[in-house]
Amino acid sequence: MLAQEIIRAKREGRALDEAQIRHFVRGLVDGSWSEGQVAALGMAVFLRGMGRDEAVALTRAMMDSGRVMAWPDMPGPVLDKHSSGGVGDKLSLMIAPMVAACGGYVPMIAGRGLGHTGGTVDKLEAIPGYTTTPAPADFDRIVRTLGCAIIGQTSDLAPADKRFYAVRDITATVESVPLITASILSKKLAAGLQGLAMDIKCGNGAFAATPEFGQELARSIVEVAGGAGLRTRALITDMNQVLGWEVGNALEVRGAIDYLTGRTPREARTHELTLALCAEMLVLGGLAPDTAAARVKLQAALDSGAAADRFARMVAALGGPADLLERPEAYLTAAPVVRPIPAPRAGRVVGMNTRDIGLVIVELGGGRRLPGDALDMRVGLDRFIQLGDLVAAGDPIAVVHAADEAAAERAIAQVSGAVVIDDAAAPWESAPLVMA
Ligand code: URA
Repeated sequence: MLAQEIIRAKREGRALDEAQIRHFVRGLVDGSWSEGQVAALGMAVFLRGMGRDEAVALTRAMMDSGRVMAWPDMPGPVLDKHSSGGVGDKLSLMIAPMVAACGGYVPMIAGRGLGHTGGTVDKLEAIPGYTTTPAPADFDRIVRTLGCAIIGQTSDLAPADKRFYAVRDITATVESVPLITASILSKKLAAGLQGLAMDIKCGNGAFAATPEFGQELARSIVEVAGGAGLRTRALITDMNQVLGWEVGNALEVRGAIDYLTGRTPREARTHELTLALCAEMLVLGGLAPDTAAARVKLQAALDSGAAADRFARMVAALGGPADLLERPEAYLTAAPVVRPIPAPRAGRVVGMNTRDIGLVIVELGGGRRLPGDALDMRVGLDRFIQLGDLVAAGDPIAVVHAADEAAAERAIAQVSGAVVIDDAAAPWESAPLVMA
């Protein structure tokens, strides 16, 4: 079988059979497909699409390209949540311990920032000592004893995705429904899950810019996961504004700690989405009969401190400080320059260019320009205003945390340009957070 004949078949819009797909995935791992051939097939799939059977075959082949975990004899369901990527999305940090506190087991293998979006692994690395690459036996033990562990992608899980993703990232072939489906699900299936809640972000801060793309991606992920034996529920959620008050690695960890401990009031959209995704997980795992009952259980886990306690113990078990929740300011280093961003005019906040706000974090040094770049964990934005809020001219719309004055000035100009303020009396209706 020749790589160029497989590429030709897809270029002409023909469906690939399982043997052709396995040939491609083998070639990704053993290097027998060149980067040019991988890129060409990626573009052919991007332009011609894939049928469901092809997407299932690609997902399975990529899953089988490495180690497949199993969780025998677990006393409860093995569950996870995955987001397709957003700005200010720190929910994994809260969801894993909340579900663990309700009887689930969450072996969460999270990602790093990608483009303008943040990544859970980068956020956790803002915690001194926390290791996102524990030995497999330690990961297994922590999940079994504490109910959750959040770590980074290991090179032995779905290695085919690692190479394919790197090529897609630089050849404008990320936004393809079958390719995103296979990429996400191959990793989730390799983690040995029994239930998965998908958060499909949709809007100007997401990879799925339109509701139609979001719907198509949700349908594809649920069907392909079902075809591979993984029960999955997908929520399509709004990403036309920053999620919550903080964006940036250490600032988001601080936001997650405040949320779990209830030390400050919980931001409404963050709370709503956290509960919605956790509730889907509890129902998928048979830990609650319906989402209403699940929410009661989850709120109790927050109110009793059980969820915060799981998070604290997970951090300590993975090498972080044992008293992070008591003294976050001692560990989450502050940036040297902290400046409010004044509203350029009075009125109502009616829009945000969320992607641009994500890019501000990259420019501040909190995201990567090149693979392998070191991050400045201290930088970012907090007290971010929400859509619908009223402001007076000069009121802060956010606070920038920067490494120096020049970076702070640039961020102030960029954020001011990315937040749209209209007359207070102009008609405005809030969009639903959970769209479907
Ligand atoms: N996240 C992934 O893991 N893969 C994709 O293709 C897109 C988002």
